[in-house]
Amino acid sequence: MGAPNAELIPEAELAELYGQPAEGRYDYAATEGNPQLIDQIVAYQARLSRHIDPERVLVTTGGMQGLDIAFKLMVDPGDLVIVESPTYTNGIATALSYQGQILEAPVDDDGLVVEALPGLVEAAGKIPKVIYVIPNFQNPSGRTMSEARRLKLIELAEHWDAFIIDDDPYGALRFAGENVPGFDELSPENHRIVSVRTFSKVLAPGLRVGWIELDPALRTLAISAKQSMDTCTNAPLQQLVADYLAQGRLESHLETLRSVYAERKQAMVQALQRTFDDQVETTDPEGGFFLWLTLRGRYAKINTEELFPLALEFGVAYIPGPAFADSGAFTDALRLCFATSTPARIELGVQRLHDALEAMLKRGAAV
Ligand SMILES: Cc1ncc(COP(=O)(O)O)c(C=O)c1O
Repeated sequence: MGAPNAELIPEAELAELYGQPAEGRYDYAATEGNPQLIDQIVAYQARLSRHIDPERVLVTTGGMQGLDIAFKLMVDPGDLVIVESPTYTNGIATALSYQGQILEAPVDDDGLVVEALPGLVEAAGKIPKVIYVIPNFQNPSGRTMSEARRLKLIELAEHWDAFIIDDDPYGALRFAGENVPGFDELSPENHRIVSVRTFSKVLAPGLRVGWIELDPALRTLAISAKQSMDTCTNAPLQQLVADYLAQGRLESHLETLRSVYAERKQAMVQALQRTFDDQVETTDPEGGFFLWLTLRGRYAKINTEELFPLALEFGVAYIPGPAFADSGAFTDALRLCFATSTPARIELGVQRLHDALEAMLKRGAAV
């Protein structure tokens, strides 16, 4: 799964903060979010040299609610929604829940292949309403979109009068390489860009606290949409996140996470190379949680959905590739998460994956 494991969640610090008295903790919070939390989000972003106006921030119940609100505001039945292929399963599901028409676009080592979009749009016969991207350490591929492509995408969105949903839960988890400027930095306060953020991957997913940053006129609509969904995000946990940020604890926690994930990614890439050599191809992410593996050579014909129950019998789990595309493509691929396991368990998991693949080949030969 795409979640940090319990040992990487600062449970003791969160418990200590929650133990402090907090006035009004159990009241309703404002629909747009606890003002202290909004201030802390603005301050946290400023420490990363990103200057955001609090009037553009809406606290959400995790990144998923941010996506839901964004798609709800922008997508009417039949509207064309460009998505990366592969992409985050729940992102596609949300666009589909508003009856968007999905247009899958390829991803390579520089992220979404923006140059392919005009041709795909022409073939679709209508211009897109929304372009949904995960620019950093994409889920599931682990890839990052280059600056040149981000700039080109901003231009295309302008040309098509489309919105960009910039979903970036993993950007703070860069452990190698150079930062690429975000959409919000390349085109500040662009009314076409909605930034979806969450504390799920950097703090704890169970908190269900995230935020979106968007144009103030759209934010008014977003507040109404949120009001009818849940009135406000869980008030005690908003306060807890605000207190955690106010104490400046997130930065040192992020440093710990980056170094742990760097080690785990390295362990996974090395174990895969040692075990499989050129029989699989993998991405080599510079941050985040995930690595994308494509079966090659003698494994190339194995269907990763069919392999899945057998892999479980061998004691290893992954997400099969077709889960990440509405078209059901990527039957020869799978997503691995390096964030949740120690290097020793990663080693064991890769060995088990190998044993499951070998057993699958034998099974095929026996039929
Ligand atoms: C790309 C992407 N967007 C959004 C989310 C949802 O985040 P949250 O758990 O905060 O709702 C995830 C979580 O897996 C994700 O990977």
